[in-house]
Amino acid sequence: MILLIGGCGFIGSHVADSLLARGLKVRVFDRRPEALRPPLAGVDYVIGDFSDSSLIYEAMSGVDAVIHLASTTVPATSNLDPVADIKGNLVATVQLLEVMRTTEVRKLVYLSSGGTVYGIPETEVVPETHPLRPISSYGIVKVAIENYLFMQHKLHGLQHVVLRASNPYGPRQGHTGVQGIIGTHLWRTARGEPVEIWGDGSVVRDFIHVRDLAELCAAAVQSDVAGCYNAGSGTGASVAQIVDSISRTVEQTGCTPMAPVYKPGRSLDVPRVVLDITRACRDFDWTPRIGLDEGIAESWQWVRGQVQGA
Ligand SMILES: NC(=O)c1ccc[n+]([C@@H]2O[C@H](COP(=O)([O-])OP(=O)(O)OC[C@H]3O[C@@H](n4cnc5c(N)ncnc54)[C@H](O)[C@@H]3O)[C@@H](O)[C@H]2O)c1
Repeated sequence: MILLIGGCGFIGSHVADSLLARGLKVRVFDRRPEALRPPLAGVDYVIGDFSDSSLIYEAMSGVDAVIHLASTTVPATSNLDPVADIKGNLVATVQLLEVMRTTEVRKLVYLSSGGTVYGIPETEVVPETHPLRPISSYGIVKVAIENYLFMQHKLHGLQHVVLRASNPYGPRQGHTGVQGIIGTHLWRTARGEPVEIWGDGSVVRDFIHVRDLAELCAAAVQSDVAGCYNAGSGTGASVAQIVDSISRTVEQTGCTPMAPVYKPGRSLDVPRVVLDITRACRDFDWTPRIGLDEGIAESWQWVRGQVQGA
């Protein structure tokens, strides 16, 4: 049985699908039900806060491994209240690790952040060995959690896999502007609302389709390796390229693309992050399969369906 903490979120909902497709038993732990789908058949749901150690303790019954995807912040919100970030994510995760030790659950896959833990990258493509110099509370907390996992590995034999995810996108991505440019742009276009872009469009990111990322999570939880892994597509695309791809996709479906309004860049947005994914491809026998244009076209169809059905 896999305990999937944060399993009702954007990435978690896809990880649940990947685990079920592999025939694994899943218990989802989240503070709210999935917003966009009914409960999945065969999945055990526990609704609660993962900082509640007694509830987590109960949820650990019969569990072989944990995938931890809960986060109370994103980079932009974490700096508004770093103390809440530390309590909600670092302290709660250290408590979770203690419960796992007590209950002898010795395997954990954790979603860290390839876009923030390295800070401003010194290399065109960033390997896992790059220095960790985060410039947001979110990134600092991710690094601290990674270090606690390593400590548990060394002292108590925790088999930990840290996946430093880049920029996931795809169906079920949120539209509040905090989960990424592709989802936000598509939702606003579908609703005929203006699209705002931070910066001049030159910022480069490593976009990965959420199903490719979910497959990596599922492969990681079934593997015997331990350590830190970049989890991206391994290729960069600028925000301007994303805007072009979305415009083409939208036009092809007979709709009108929204011309974005460019706003001043934010200090927490680093200019370029592209991850070297050689290690993950090798150790998990995994490769990202869904190309950006294909993934954007699929996401657009999904968003249109949501807006038309609303
Ligand atoms: N989406 C991204 O761009 C991105 C990039 C890199 C890393 N990540 C990491 O991946 C993980 C999943 O991200 P996501 O995009 O699916 O986020 P999300 O907000 O869609 O999902 C997170 C889920 O965790 C749940 N949750 C949050 N706090 C909780 C708590 N205290 N107790 C119980 N449940 C709680 C939420 O209800 C939500 O369902 C996070 O750790 C995030 O930091 C996300």
